Amino acid sequence: MSLKNKKILIIVGGGIAAYKSLDLIRLLKKNNNEVKSILTKSGREFVTPLSITTLTKSKTFEDIFDKNSEAEIDHISLSRWADIIIVMPTTANFMTKLSAGKAEDLATTVILASNKDVLLVPAMNVRMWLHKATQINLKTLQDFGYLFIGPEKGEMACGEYGEGKMSSPKQIFSFLENYFKKRNSVKERKLKAIVTAGPTREFIDPVRYISNESSGKQGYEIAVALSKMGVKTTLISGPTNIIFQKGIRTKKITTAEEMLEEVKKSLPVDIAICAAAVSDFKPISKSTSKLKKNQDNLNSIKLKKNKDIVEYLGKNNKFRPKLVVGFAAETENLNKNAFTKMKEKNCDLIIANDVSEADKGFNSDFNKVNIISNNGKIIQIKKNKKSYIAHKIVEVVLNKFFVDDRNFN
Ligand code: C5P
Repeated sequence: MSLKNKKILIIVGGGIAAYKSLDLIRLLKKNNNEVKSILTKSGREFVTPLSITTLTKSKTFEDIFDKNSEAEIDHISLSRWADIIIVMPTTANFMTKLSAGKAEDLATTVILASNKDVLLVPAMNVRMWLHKATQINLKTLQDFGYLFIGPEKGEMACGEYGEGKMSSPKQIFSFLENYFKKRNSVKERKLKAIVTAGPTREFIDPVRYISNESSGKQGYEIAVALSKMGVKTTLISGPTNIIFQKGIRTKKITTAEEMLEEVKKSLPVDIAICAAAVSDFKPISKSTSKLKKNQDNLNSIKLKKNKDIVEYLGKNNKFRPKLVVGFAAETENLNKNAFTKMKEKNCDLIIANDVSEADKGFNSDFNKVNIISNNGKIIQIKKNKKSYIAHKIVEVVLNKFFVDDRNFN
C-alpha cells in the first residue's frame, strides 16, 4: 500500500454525505497518514467536531476568527502543512464560492491560499449537478487546476436517481494512492521532458516570413501540467504572446531550424511532447534585403522542407526519449490520419484534434482531442479549456510512461 505517511487536510462540507468523511479519515489513519480537518459551518449540521477529533486525534478547525486556533496554526500554515487538500462533500454552493475565488471563512481562505492540489468530491442532487451554473463552475474550477473525483451515478439520499452521488471513501482512497504513487515515481526517476510549442517563422526577407495561426497555448499548458506533476520540463517555444510561466525553463526560438537545435541540446530526456506547429517549408534562400514591389507579379518563392522534429526524436537511435508524443491537426478522417502520422513518425502517442470547427484547436482557448496510442487504443477528451485538456494529456502520458498501457483504456 503506497498511501502512508502523508499529511491530508479534509474539509468537511455541508451535505448529507458528510458522515462518509469519517470513514475516509478512519481509512487514512489506519494506513498511518496524518489527518487534520476543517469543519465548515454547514458541515457542522451533519457531523460534530468531537467525532472528527476522536478519529483524527487532532483539533478540528472551524473558525477563521478563532483566536486560539489562529495562535496555534493559521490558514497559511494549515495549507502549507498538507500534502493534499480534500473537500468532501463539495456542495454546489461551495463550487460557486471557489469559482468566484472567495475567502469568506477558514475553508475557502485555506484553499485560496494553498500551494497544494485540491481534490473536490462533489455530492448533490442530480438537477443541481446538471444545472448550467454548476456545469460552468465545474469548467472554471477545472481550468483553475482543481482535481475532481465523481460524482457517481446512483440513488441519492433525496430518493432521486442520477449523477450526483459522492464517490465512496474507498474510491477516494484509491484515487489518493494513484495520485501519490505517480508523484513518487516522477520524483524517484527524476523525470525530464521537453515540450515544443507555438509556430515557427521562416523568413523570405528580413521583414517577411511564412508562419501559421498557432498561439502556443496548448503546448504551454502541457508544460505547466508536466511541471506541476514534478517533471523537470523545458519548453521550446516559437514566437507567442504568452507571458512566460515561472519555474519552467523556456527556450525561445524563431525558426524550425532553431527549434530543432534547441531540441538536440536538451537531449537526453524521458518524454518529448511536440505540440509546436512547425512550418513544413522554408524559403530555399532568404533575401538579404527587403523584396521590392516594383514588379507586377512575384512568380515564385522556392521552398524546401523543414526537418521533422518529432520524427527526428521518434527515430533517434542514440537518444530516443522513452515516450515521444506528437500532435495531428486534421480536418477529415481524424483518427485514421492521426494514426498513420504516428506510425510514420514513430511516436508512442498522438494527440489528434479536429480543426475543422471554429473555437477549437488553433488560436482558441478551447480544444477537443482524441489521444491515440500506438497500440490503437483511443481516449476521447470532450471539448474543454486547454488547461484541462493539458492535464488530461499529462495524465495519460504518465500512465503510459509508468505502466505502459495498463491504465490506458
Ligand atoms: O505532419 P504534421 O505537420 O501534421 O505533424 C504534426 C506533428 O509533427 C506535430 O507534433 C508537430 O509538432 C510535428 N512536426 C515537427 N516538425 C516539423 C513538422 C511537424 O515536429 N517539421
